Amino acid sequence: MSRRPIVAGNWKMYKTTTEAVAFIDELAKLVGKDDDVAIYLAVPFTLIKPCSESAKGSSIVIGAQNMHDATEGAFTGEVAGSMLLDAGAKFVILGHSERRNIFKETNAFIHKKVQRALELKLHPILCIGETLEERNDEQTHSVLQEQLSECLKGASVDAINNNLTIAYEPVWAIGTGQVATPEMADDAHRFCRDWLRQNFNEDIAQNVRIIYGGSVNSSNCNGLFQKGDIDGALVGGASLQADKFYQIVESAKQRGSVV
Ligand code: 13P
Repeated sequence: MSRRPIVAGNWKMYKTTTEAVAFIDELAKLVGKDDDVAIYLAVPFTLIKPCSESAKGSSIVIGAQNMHDATEGAFTGEVAGSMLLDAGAKFVILGHSERRNIFKETNAFIHKKVQRALELKLHPILCIGETLEERNDEQTHSVLQEQLSECLKGASVDAINNNLTIAYEPVWAIGTGQVATPEMADDAHRFCRDWLRQNFNEDIAQNVRIIYGGSVNSSNCNGLFQKGDIDGALVGGASLQADKFYQIVESAKQRGSVV
């Protein structure tokens, strides 16, 4: 099993339907039939259906940025995983630091969402990462360990095999222009892969893709992609323009799959 790179855009709370469809049309032309790199776009809920329809026939995969763990119920303003699938989403970002920090999501809540997404075969991209204070206190590994063990508690090998991506996103690097050095990111990714090996098995450690997020752009992605344990990127700001985003896809293509 080889790890094909993933370049995932996280549009956060940006774009109207017209803007989104124009983006997909432009990106689809640039991508053509190429599928050396998995191209994911996590769009706002309202854009999942129109984007999925526009992306048909291309290798662009549409997903969501969050979900609730319940199957249905009285949860005003929330969206269930089955509804995301129904709208055409194939994956969902869970535990993004903006959800953790602004909306006070805990590891326990994220764990429930991960369980539900795995059950639904809605591929989760689980986000983890330390704050600047935690890094300065040399707590990075222990924070990652805690997030991984709490969010993936009880997950079975079968459920996560080929159905989980981890995004290492140091909080201090998100939206700040202060990207982690390739060495810092590589160290964190290696730590996560070792954790997967110790807590699941060698196959899982080799198969699960670990992508880096935090101020990634077309100028700094090459250095990151040269590291063997960095399997792609989760891109915020630089994913909002199709040509800029595609440059990152091109860099990931140079890196190729890790076998
Ligand atoms: P930026 O690329 O804008 O720093 O955002 C990163 C991010 O939060 C992706 O999920």
